[in-house]
Amino acid sequence: MSFETIIDWGYIVASVLFIVGLKMMNSPETARKGNGLSAVGMLIAVVATLLVKGISFEWIAVGVVIGSAIGAVSAYKVKMTSMPEMVALFNGLGGLASLLVGWVEYHRHPDSPVGTMVAIYLAVLIGAVTFTGSVVAYSKLAETVLSGKPFLFRGQQIANGFLVAALVVLGVLVCVDPVNAYPYVIAAIVLSLVLGVMSVIPIGGADMPVVISLLNSYSGLAAAAAGFVILNKVLIVSGSLVGASGIILTQIMCKAMNRSLGHVLFSGFGAAPTAGAASGAGGEVSAVTAEDAFYVFESARSVVFVPGYGMAVAQAQHTVKELGMLLEANGCEVRFAIHPVAGRMPGHMNVLLAEADVPYEQLVEMDDINPIMPTVDLAVVIGANDVVNPSARDDETSPIYGMPIINVDHARTVYVLKRSMAAGFAGLENPLFFKQNVRMLFGDAKASIQAVVSQFKG
Ligand code: TAP
Repeated sequence: MSFETIIDWGYIVASVLFIVGLKMMNSPETARKGNGLSAVGMLIAVVATLLVKGISFEWIAVGVVIGSAIGAVSAYKVKMTSMPEMVALFNGLGGLASLLVGWVEYHRHPDSPVGTMVAIYLAVLIGAVTFTGSVVAYSKLAETVLSGKPFLFRGQQIANGFLVAALVVLGVLVCVDPVNAYPYVIAAIVLSLVLGVMSVIPIGGADMPVVISLLNSYSGLAAAAAGFVILNKVLIVSGSLVGASGIILTQIMCKAMNRSLGHVLFSGFGAAPTAGAASGAGGEVSAVTAEDAFYVFESARSVVFVPGYGMAVAQAQHTVKELGMLLEANGCEVRFAIHPVAGRMPGHMNVLLAEADVPYEQLVEMDDINPIMPTVDLAVVIGANDVVNPSARDDETSPIYGMPIINVDHARTVYVLKRSMAAGFAGLENPLFFKQNVRMLFGDAKASIQAVVSQFKG
């Protein structure tokens, strides 16, 4: 078997592991193994690539040491609630890598045939858009340099249209006469970097997870284009997988919010102050203490926990699991209802509950829990807000009208655990809190659940 054949076999095995790993991520039960398999695939791909003749190892060693150190430290330090920011940064760096590959290859072979030039141009263009778009997405989520609010100005879409048109013209010029196209390539890089910023600034913080998933898809496409440039098969396969899975995830999130991708990208959702707008909210809320809440917990025969972003902030998952076990020991049926866009990233709640070893069979999807909600004694909303907002179901004037929600208000009694009357990510008031069967248990979610647990134990 020749050396090239061994490398090709390595690439085939790696590609199969990527695909099987992705498939296993479909279910929380197999997701961890799937991630491990894909990582093994990546290791094989990297080793096979390093075996290709003519690679200078010194610079690679420097890159591996620096990259691994930064990656390990940041992965170790990052808070679970900041994971979307981290993913945004990783996407951005993937885009930057593709841009650099395209740039270097243009310098090495400015006389490349048209097909290669198209791939180089796409790697540079998509890589640059992904890079600056991801940096803006990161800043909006972290809210350090930029605010999470959409930044809108008159003629924004026309300006973006001009940028795209200019990039198409430059692309033609570069591919037709690459040898004399140096200034055009520079111009294309600058305009692509600007386009990345311009396309993400009008999008509100609440929609950033969708944007990040879309940018993830772009980074895959840029990597696939870079794969065509350097004729690396496994880069083409993995880039295409990332590109396809990113766009599918984007679609799933849009569907879960009942919005089109166009609406997410161009509507400036969250620009206007919408709190309380025609939400039907108002009146008095009824608060309850953990001590009083305990009696309802104790007598309930079925309890459904509905976690949201606040559970991640409070890191309440372990305490919630403990309460669930106490309830079960008390003869109660315990379930966890998961909304597809609860939290700040896809699968956020599943990851937290898996971390606390909540049994998978207790996790129920929104479409399965809603029909049986009227039979539930007690629904406990743990730091969720938008995903249980009845305006999305009942109020046609609400900006989130049409988004499917978990109908907690159909349960016999509802406890809402949050610290204040503050709005959720979409900035909307929530009429749920004012309903007759709803009691607010104010305070940090972990402390509130802990107090109920203490009552059980006491
Ligand atoms: P949110 O609507 O953002 O509400 C979270 C609530 O948690 C807040 O109202 C906050 O109220 C409470 N909270 C924060 N810290 C807390 C703590 N320590 N203890 C108790 N409560 C705490 O969350 P959600 O219901 O999960 O909805 C997710 C939102 O993100 C939706 O608007 C969704 O469309 C958007 N989104 C998500 C995704 C994905 S993939 N997950 C994608 C796109 C958009 P207090 O400040 O009063 O405590």
